[in-house]
Amino acid sequence: MKEEVKILAIESSCDETAAAVVVNGRDVRSNIISSQIDLHTIYGGVVPEIASRKHVENINYVIQEALDTAHMTLDDLDAVAVTYGPGLVGALLVGVAEAKAISYGKNLPLIGVHHIEGHISANYIENKDLEPPYICLVVSGGHSHLVKVSDYGEYEVLGRTRDDAAGEAFDKVARAIGLGYPGGPKIDKVSKMGNPHAISFPRANIADHPYDFSFSGLKSAVLNYLNQCEMKGESYNQADVAASFQQAVVDVLTEHARMAVEETGMKKLAIAGGVASNSALRQAMKDMCEKNHIDFYYPSPILCTDNAAMIGAAAYYEFLKGVRHGLDLNAIPNLKLGER
Ligand code: KG4
Ligand code: ZN
Repeated sequence: MKEEVKILAIESSCDETAAAVVVNGRDVRSNIISSQIDLHTIYGGVVPEIASRKHVENINYVIQEALDTAHMTLDDLDAVAVTYGPGLVGALLVGVAEAKAISYGKNLPLIGVHHIEGHISANYIENKDLEPPYICLVVSGGHSHLVKVSDYGEYEVLGRTRDDAAGEAFDKVARAIGLGYPGGPKIDKVSKMGNPHAISFPRANIADHPYDFSFSGLKSAVLNYLNQCEMKGESYNQADVAASFQQAVVDVLTEHARMAVEETGMKKLAIAGGVASNSALRQAMKDMCEKNHIDFYYPSPILCTDNAAMIGAAAYYEFLKGVRHGLDLNAIPNLKLGER
């Protein structure tokens, strides 16, 4: 085995065109992200067709910048990795086609990576000591999963959302209270000026499935509250609504994660995905872990939201296991975690 495995990783599953060079899974030499957020903000959410077109426009520049920043060329690489699902199919296809072209042109091994596996693996980049087994809470715009990471690339999904993902709930509530897209960071900011106990919103638990989540009832409760205020001709306090909603999400996520760690006998908990950059969630998880003597791991905010460094981290462990994809690799929009 070579001492250094240099992987070029590509991520284009949603509205970020991203490329990174990662050495041995944890040493990030470059992490370039071209965000399309401004473009989609006008429409109040991601427009898949526009996302695909922008990926096509940007991807070669983003990859070149990732190589330049890492002081490498395609000739220095040992493999090329790409997110092949889940995500928006047209968006995924851009990255997959690009990675296949590089793999073919340079005769490099091709490694397809699951997007959620990437999010989880973001934790390895700054926590050099983190190794499986551990529990990971993955909360993003498209997913809310409570996962037991038994080994590298080995996952057992303990719980998942029954309806909206946590990030989706943030985005929808933000729109309802006039904060716009993307909602998560805006609710995070406004909540700092609000009272998290001002309004009592529901915390949903699902009978017989204690690890599952449901956020649609909470979202409806916020909408009902806003409607009632309107009907009574009363104004509402935007910061209080945001903070109370955020607290309800944070309480549920923290409690479910605590239960999962306790009941599986794990000693380590990690968080991942865009919502993992939420300041209230990070603080609540830290406090809960401290109280329960659990080692807590979390990526920097830039590694929580979509990026390619996390794909390079996940790809390295797949590479070590001998996972290689052929030039028939396709985008799989609803790829399940643990599937190949
Ligand atoms: O992981 P990600 O970049 O993309 C997906 O794979 O979905 O997550 C994006 C989601 C969005 O819903 C966004 O509102 C949410 O993460 N998000 C946040 C914060 N930053 C991003 N939610 C709460 N607080 C934040 N600070
Ligand atoms: Zn993501």
